[in-house]
Amino acid sequence: LQSVGIWGTGSYLPEKIMTNKDFESMIETSDEWIVTRTGIRERRVAKPEEAVSDLAYVAGQRALEAAGVHPEELDLIIVGSCTFDAYLPASACLVADKLGAKRAAAFDLETACTSFIYGCAVGSQFIATGTYRRVLVIGAEVLSKFMDYSDRNTCVLFGDGAGAAVLGPVEEGAGIKAVHLGADGSGGKDLGVPAGGSRLPATAETVEQRQHYVKMNGKEVYKFAVRIMGDAAEKALEIADWEKEDIDFFIPHQANMRIIDSAAKKLGIGMDRVAVNLDRYGNMSAASIPVALDEMVRSGQIQPGHRLIMVGFGAGLTWGSMAVEW
Ligand code: ACO
Repeated sequence: LQSVGIWGTGSYLPEKIMTNKDFESMIETSDEWIVTRTGIRERRVAKPEEAVSDLAYVAGQRALEAAGVHPEELDLIIVGSCTFDAYLPASACLVADKLGAKRAAAFDLETACTSFIYGCAVGSQFIATGTYRRVLVIGAEVLSKFMDYSDRNTCVLFGDGAGAAVLGPVEEGAGIKAVHLGADGSGGKDLGVPAGGSRLPATAETVEQRQHYVKMNGKEVYKFAVRIMGDAAEKALEIADWEKEDIDFFIPHQANMRIIDSAAKKLGIGMDRVAVNLDRYGNMSAASIPVALDEMVRSGQIQPGHRLIMVGFGAGLTWGSMAVEW
């Protein structure tokens, strides 16, 4: 099989910042509660007219520039998200059109916060088998549009943003060394948007009952996340045949600082080698890992030869990990 690597990355964050203090006038909460329980200090919020494909397009364009790939050279575009422009058509098709990626196949992929890892896993298969040569994977979210700003259990946690990566063939033995994916639908009830699908189609009643917003059983998701973060990271290490000491950087999904801390402890990795952006961006779901990756690449932290472990988890429940030699 052809080895597959990341040729270039890009990201886009909406300009508007919403701080913890901004919530104090809306709901019963405090900056102190949010910081101590989650580590989040502020998050970005998209403009009313901005949808996922708008954010994804800019991140994708930046990744293409970094990779030196022309949009017409793309074979496939995958947009991972849980806040698509609409049910139909796929946001990936809209992104392909905006980019001018006329030759590319395009589809959406939804595994909530694990969507970027799943997207890379799926996209890389086409390259490994020789079917395609250039695949753009984007993780993008506008969660602010699905927040119930009267529900303090959820609205303080999430933010908007997009991150992208161009995948392509690399020399043998480099690039993506391991992929591990998982799913457990018995936890589906703990995190989701109840209405608007075929189970509970939209009616005036579902709107009135605020059933179109994200609902979460935070405690259950927390327990799952603490367990799965460490387990999934270890699985990627095992598949890549790496030791914990081999990890240069750990890039975890950004949901809660306490979850990240406990995973880092389990891996025995110092926080100076752990990506953290949730203090600035909150939980951006599918975008959190690719945005962190892009920032570390652009700042020069990640250098050729570095070994990275990325781990995502989210609604579904789903999880996924990836080992990449840069
Ligand atoms: N401000 C003030 N108080 C609050 C707030 C808030 N924003 N939110 C909740 N509280 C209250 C609760 O109502 C509760 O009050 P009560 O005891 O009177 O009922 C109290 O704080 C404690 O609540 P806990 O649930 O015990 O708080 P906890 O320490 O568990 O933190 C949190 C809650 C931050 C949500 C945590 O459970 C968590 O991070 N869970 C995981 C979330 C996660 O990983 N989500 C991933 C989603 S990924 C995706 O797929 C989209």
